[in-house]
Amino acid sequence: MLILGIETSCDETAAAAVEAVNGKIKVLSNVVASQIEIHKKYGGVVPEVAAREHVLNILPVVHEALEEARVSAMSSRGAERRGNLKFGAINQRSPRSLRSLAMTKLDAIAVTVGPGLITSLLVGVETAKSLSFVWNLPLIAVNHIEAHLYSNFINHPEISFPAVALTVSGGHTSLVLMNGHGRYKLLGETRDDAAGEAFDKAAKLLGLGYPGGPAISREAAKWKHHSPSGGAKSKIKNQKSEIILPRPMIESGDFDFSFSGLKTALLYQLKKDKNWKARVPEYAHEFEQAVVETLVSKTVKAAKKYNVKNVMLAGGVAANRRLRERLKRAVARELPPAGFYLPEFKYTTDNAAMIAANGYFKALKKEYTPYHKVAAEANLELKQLN
Ligand code: KG4
Ligand code: ZN
Repeated sequence: MLILGIETSCDETAAAAVEAVNGKIKVLSNVVASQIEIHKKYGGVVPEVAAREHVLNILPVVHEALEEARVSAMSSRGAERRGNLKFGAINQRSPRSLRSLAMTKLDAIAVTVGPGLITSLLVGVETAKSLSFVWNLPLIAVNHIEAHLYSNFINHPEISFPAVALTVSGGHTSLVLMNGHGRYKLLGETRDDAAGEAFDKAAKLLGLGYPGGPAISREAAKWKHHSPSGGAKSKIKNQKSEIILPRPMIESGDFDFSFSGLKTALLYQLKKDKNWKARVPEYAHEFEQAVVETLVSKTVKAAKKYNVKNVMLAGGVAANRRLRERLKRAVARELPPAGFYLPEFKYTTDNAAMIAANGYFKALKKEYTPYHKVAAEANLELKQLN
């Protein structure tokens, strides 16, 4: 089965084609046009600007994804030719080649319908509806959070259930029990800021750039090797920090999270510390520790309670090296023989391969929606079904 995925829920315009056979998913193309450079100067995503960029990018991105898929599906020299494909060149191609590619190859189109920024979502949704109409292809409505979870299945068809999945992104932090494909129970979520949002806000307070997650990680890594005497590359490891931030709700007894108080605690500490600009790596390190410890602790508790076979990590914050390592170690130490899965780096932040992968599992159950009934929904919730 060959599925085209389309994703425009925030500031990434993405399209991908995946080929799936007996649960095994092969990504034939994974094209992402990122708007990070555009939104950087505003310190965050500006919805109106994001939507306009999606409108400009969506067709070239879909076109490139289809071109690449055909090349890599047909010859081993695909990779060489892929490298030469440039947007400019695609813009000049005739629409007819786009049409013939899709008509000969695709089985369905999967598109993110929510949650996300409504003006951004609309571009992907309306494009997918139009393509589904003109190409007469079935349409699959995909939940963005569910799709993040499916980034794990791209390389791991063997993941068995029950499994616990921690999805941490710029807009969401949720712990989900997965009892089978499409069968979820929401165990807990954030009551205020998402983990990625907390990283972004903390980075702003520390005068670091956008997006904040990678910036905080980079600074935090510097602190480990920073000597108190100012020598740049001291070998002192596991140096103890004098800065202590709270681990919010870590002993709350449920599986919910809260990160807005953590950001406020950081703000107060910075206000009290006249010398904070010289200690940015140390603050970044402690902030990252506080978020990671809270996420790992609750995930492990949930996995134990539900006696799961596997633990999965997904979402943009899953790109965080410390989180990946700590959770992996905790699962190995506290939950043997449970397996631990995380997506490849390129499938952690927003992409359309995960949308198409999720689409495949829905297509197996014929979960298609007539194009005129597909609508973008900013606050779409995960459908719970045991
Ligand atoms: O999944 P994603 O691309 O978009 C949403 O669906 O929100 O996640 C983006 C979020 C941003 O908040 C970004 O700061 C965070 O993921 N992020 C990270 C790292 N890389 C990206 N957070 C912590 N550490 C990272 N290395
Ligand atoms: Zn996302």
